[in-house]
Amino acid sequence: MKVIKSVAEMAEAREQAPRPMALVPTMGALHEGHLSLVRRARSEGATVVASVFVNPTQFGPNEDLAAYPRDLERDLALLEQEGVDLVFQPSQEDIYPSGFATTVDVGALGRRLEGEFRPGHFRGVATVVCKLFTIIRPDEAYFGQKDAQQTLVIRRLNADLNLGVNVVVCPSVREADGLAMSSRNAYLGPEERRASTALFRALSAAQARFNGGERDADKLRGAMVQVLRMEPLAQREYVSVSDAETLEELARVDGPALALLAVRIGNTRLIDNVALG
Ligand code: PAJ
Repeated sequence: MKVIKSVAEMAEAREQAPRPMALVPTMGALHEGHLSLVRRARSEGATVVASVFVNPTQFGPNEDLAAYPRDLERDLALLEQEGVDLVFQPSQEDIYPSGFATTVDVGALGRRLEGEFRPGHFRGVATVVCKLFTIIRPDEAYFGQKDAQQTLVIRRLNADLNLGVNVVVCPSVREADGLAMSSRNAYLGPEERRASTALFRALSAAQARFNGGERDADKLRGAMVQVLRMEPLAQREYVSVSDAETLEELARVDGPALALLAVRIGNTRLIDNVALG
């Protein structure tokens, strides 16, 4: 496994790499969710590249950029175990040199849900993913359904700018009690960890109502709110029943839809989603 620390070196390595080349972009602090993407990439790519870059532009001014967990040594050991060929770990200055000014904005899709509570977040994500796609030029790139809106933003960016990458979305990996794996779960104290199961319990309640035939989106949202209300440590930011492609709020569920939520448990902000139908 080769660790590449500069854009110039990466540009050179990509020319020699056997194709197809499969990319897994990450911000490090790797867990089984990330590793599931790496395994899928390994099974489909001749060359597997993982990027590890805590992207400052996708964090808001009052968010957890400074506190975000970082453990490069452990990450490299895990990636090596999974048979990754190249790790791209650029510096902030290499990705955002002085004078950097161009950003990618995917429009309305990036302003709903997460975008409403994290203004500018998806501009940061779209900009860095556009740069990663352009620097690395992978044939395939792997993303997790856990961040459903992010996958839609990346599909939009990839199509709109003709980046030509095959974007592959992989299922959410969960703890035994349903909590979706996330680097941010490390922030949770024991009481908070217990309370954090409310997210998946709420989504499961909506899914159960849907499977029982409920199609009224307000009733499905209500089922989620009811579960969250019973957990005193859970402060909800949004609960949504949205069209699976546009993320527009639905009145009725007649086609592919997602139940999504964002909840604060203490100071930790968690998101999750499940498909309806
Ligand atoms: P990060 O949060 O490190 O996640 C990297 C990838 O792992 C994303 O595609 C995310 O959806 C996926 N992932 C995280 N938890 C998962 C889980 N429990 N199950 C399945 N997949 C999971 O997402 C980012 O980094 C950044 O925004 C990035 C795309 C790297 C751009 O900076």
